[in-house]
Amino acid sequence: MSDPHAPLLSALKGERCTPPPLWLMRQAGRYLPEYREVRSTVSSFLELCLTPRLAAEVTLQPLRRFAFDASIVFSDILIVPYALGQQVTFVAGEGPKLEPVRDAGALARLNRIVALGRLSPVYETVERVVSELPASVPLFGFCGAPWTVATYMVEGAGSKDQAAARSLAYREPDTFQALIDMLVETSTAYLLGQLEAGCRALQIFDSWSGSLPEDAFSRWCIAPTKAIVDQVKAEAPEIPIIGFPRGAGPSAIRYARETGIDGIGCDTSLPLDWIREELQSHLPVQGNLDPVLLAAGGPPLEARVRLILAELGQGPFIFNLGHGILPETPIENVAHLVRLVKGDR
Ligand code: CP3
Repeated sequence: MSDPHAPLLSALKGERCTPPPLWLMRQAGRYLPEYREVRSTVSSFLELCLTPRLAAEVTLQPLRRFAFDASIVFSDILIVPYALGQQVTFVAGEGPKLEPVRDAGALARLNRIVALGRLSPVYETVERVVSELPASVPLFGFCGAPWTVATYMVEGAGSKDQAAARSLAYREPDTFQALIDMLVETSTAYLLGQLEAGCRALQIFDSWSGSLPEDAFSRWCIAPTKAIVDQVKAEAPEIPIIGFPRGAGPSAIRYARETGIDGIGCDTSLPLDWIREELQSHLPVQGNLDPVLLAAGGPPLEARVRLILAELGQGPFIFNLGHGILPETPIENVAHLVRLVKGDR
């Protein structure tokens, strides 16, 4: 049973909430000076993710400043490849670097048994955070969708077009399927571990789902996400799951219907009337303020927030960005956003 006083959970059950619940993707992070201070005490980003005391602290930091309706455990989608034994580092200013997995041999060196133990610090972070949160603010657990995580694993880094992963998927579909299957299995166990530790909602980030044509989108985005959702629901049917198929465009309709998710994250590019008619008529929606507009602020931000509220606020809706918050975002703009969405109470 969900808490009747948690607006986020009410919205995900299909209720219209006024004002709508609000949280921001990547709400813990570099735009907060207190995050940068904690970050400077550890030598690597991964160390921060794997030190429960510090990860719990940075998870809670945005909640101390802003009246957000959800928290999200501080970790990263690339913790799963790390847990599988792939070498993962985060280079300041360059993003993630991984030892690429481009053939069956490299795939065979990954170890799904190791994974389960290496993820346990995240569960401890969850336990610590939950003990400090009020019942009205659920904690999200999350993972990257198999396709998006695979793009980093195959490329060995972030990329503009995900060409290495797309190429492997076309040239060696069996090898790529084995990688996706491994990610489905490990991500499912990871999400269930986060639930067992106390998370009350889940989000699956498919940041690069927009780079695939329709049939490949069905095979590599929809099918693995559905497999995760089915297995999580078999164990925890009451836990809502948000899917975020960034860049999917019109394929978001099929994604919403076929994966079994409870709510859909909408990216910045989706038109508001289209979201309302094609998605919100079927399920709760989340989104989709441009993070660049939040960083820019001023009257255009106010106008856009009002428009989003007018277009989507009549149905089940969670206010969020259309992608993660930018490090250069002024804190005052976030405070102003909270006032605009929640009123001046
Ligand atoms: O507050 C939260 O939302 C929880 C933390 C969180 C992080 N990453 C922390 C992080 C979440 C939910 C993520 C998800 C994530 N990570 C995604 C999916 C969402 C999206 O943005 O598309 C992706 C693709 C990643 C992979 C990733 N992690 C990249 C490409 C980078 C480098 C780019 C960057 O922003 O620096 C990261 C690093 C990362 N993950 C940071 C944070 C706070 C910055 C590292 C630092 O502080 O040193």
